[in-house]
Formats: sequence, C-alpha cells, structure tokens
Amino acid sequence: MSRIVYVNGDYLPEGEAKVSIFDRGFLMADGVYEVTTVIDSKLVDFDGHFTRLERSLGELDIANPMDREGWLDVHRQLIAQNGLDQGMIYLQVTRGAPNDRDFVFPDPETTAPTVVLFTQANPALLDSPKARKGIKVAMIDDLRWGRRDIKTVQLLYPSMGKMMAIKAGCDDAWMVQDGTVTEGTSNNAYIIKDGRIITRALSNDILHGITRAAVLRFAREAQMPVEERSFTVDEAKSADEAFVTSASTFVLPVVEIDGETLGDGVPGPLATRLRDIYIEESRKAAI
Ligand code: PDD
Repeated sequence: MSRIVYVNGDYLPEGEAKVSIFDRGFLMADGVYEVTTVIDSKLVDFDGHFTRLERSLGELDIANPMDREGWLDVHRQLIAQNGLDQGMIYLQVTRGAPNDRDFVFPDPETTAPTVVLFTQANPALLDSPKARKGIKVAMIDDLRWGRRDIKTVQLLYPSMGKMMAIKAGCDDAWMVQDGTVTEGTSNNAYIIKDGRIITRALSNDILHGITRAAVLRFAREAQMPVEERSFTVDEAKSADEAFVTSASTFVLPVVEIDGETLGDGVPGPLATRLRDIYIEESRKAAI
C-alpha cells in the first residue's frame, strides 16, 4: 500500500515525493533525524524527541523549521492519513539543497532546510518475537565520529556493524572503545549484575536515548538500583542479564554476548519486568 509522506510542507503519495540531488543530506550526511514510536495511534515521548531534535539542530547550526505544535501536527496528520496503529514516524531535517556542492555551509537566508517525514508500520512492535527470545550481540570496535550525541543521518558505520553482527550469527553489535562498551548500533546498552542496572553515563560518546531516560526513571521508581558508568567487555560477558533500549525496540533482552550465554539463555526477569513497565507507562502517557 502506498503511503502518504511529508516533504517540505506537502503531503504526497510516497512515489511522488522528491528531494534534490544537491541536498546536503544526500551529498554530505548533513542532517539529523528522529524516530518516534506510535502505539494505539498515539505518539510515545513526543516531547523528548522534539527536545533532542532541537538540540541536534542547534549543535549543527541548522534552524529548526517548525515549532513544537507544527511538528506535532505533521506527526498526527501522518498517523491519521496512513491509519497507523503501531509503528513509528521517521523524521529527517537536512541543511537543504544549495545550487552546487560546497563544503561551506550555504546561507540559511537562501537555502531552507529540507524536511521529510514518513510512517513505518510494525504490527509486531508490542508482541515482538525477538523480545520473547532475546537477542545475541557481537562486540565490534566503535569507529564512529566523536559527536555521537548528535543524532545525525551518517549511519554507514552502524549499518556496517549490524552486517558484521549478522555475519557472526548475531542480531546486533555492541561497539567498544578503550575496552568499554559505548552502545549498540541503534540502541543504548545495559548489563545487570547482582540486581544493579549498569549503563554508560551520558557524554559525547553515545546518543542520549529518549527510551534510556524513561527506562532509568522507571527503574529508579521501581527501586531497582542504577549505576551510570562505563562497563567492560568482560563485565558484559559475565553479567546476569543484559538488554538494549530504543524507540523502535523498547526494552529488548540480550541473551548472548560474543558467544557467551547470559544466565539461562532466556530473557532475564529484570529486563522482562522493565519491558513490561516501559510499555505500560508509555502507553498511558502517549499523546
Ligand atoms: N536509533 N543509540 C543509537 C546509536 C541510536 O541510533 C538510537 C536510536 C539509540 C536509542 O535512542 P532512542 O531511545 O531515543 O530511540 C541509542 C533509532 C531508533 C534508529 O536509528 O532507528
């Protein structure tokens, strides 16, 4: 079924939507994005994603093309026009399309940002087979740039990392820098040891996950101790449980790391409980 997508102010059938070949997102990965979950045709953590979008744009000196109400309206229009019940909305803002390729940023007075949004349905979002079974991760070097806190569209290395993991018989990769885990290719990474949830502290080394913020808040509210610190590859392999979080997977249990089985090799009790709490609370708060 053809989707209705949003491009620079217009709602169009996906086959009619076009972006210039001079767009800096296409030529230079000069753009940022957000992925917002939709449950029951409502947006999960919309304000968290909007705030991070503003920050990412600000860090790159791209003017935010819309205010909160404008973004919310486009998201809601797309949900309505596509009859989206469960899935996500992808949004991307690039520095726009100047007349030529140039390393110098174009004048924002004459080159407006390009704005694209589309929906992606996912009927298995809540009842995910991967969440029931748990996933296997492989460790790879973190070879990304130094500003991973900005949610840019330069996703080549994460995409290569995912392929390296699949080649190794795993579902995803955790990236390692100086012996400690930074994050997954498209998610934040956690281990659980003796009932304590351990995840890397926020810095430029990782994306400041919106799901991470919510999950840590729910964990603390449920009296689960949280340690925001780096953890080593060895600590990960000898953890009791592990999991990843992202808008598209919620809390997803990890059952194997670099060939080492965690616990009984099935999703652990704390990760499973956190997933349940996250889904229940997000559903209640969705707008
Ligand atoms: N990825 N770390 C990285 C590198 C990510 O790409 C993502 C999200 C996260 C989790 O962030 P959040 O909880 O705000 O989704 C962490 C999205 C889902 C994607 O690229 O599809």
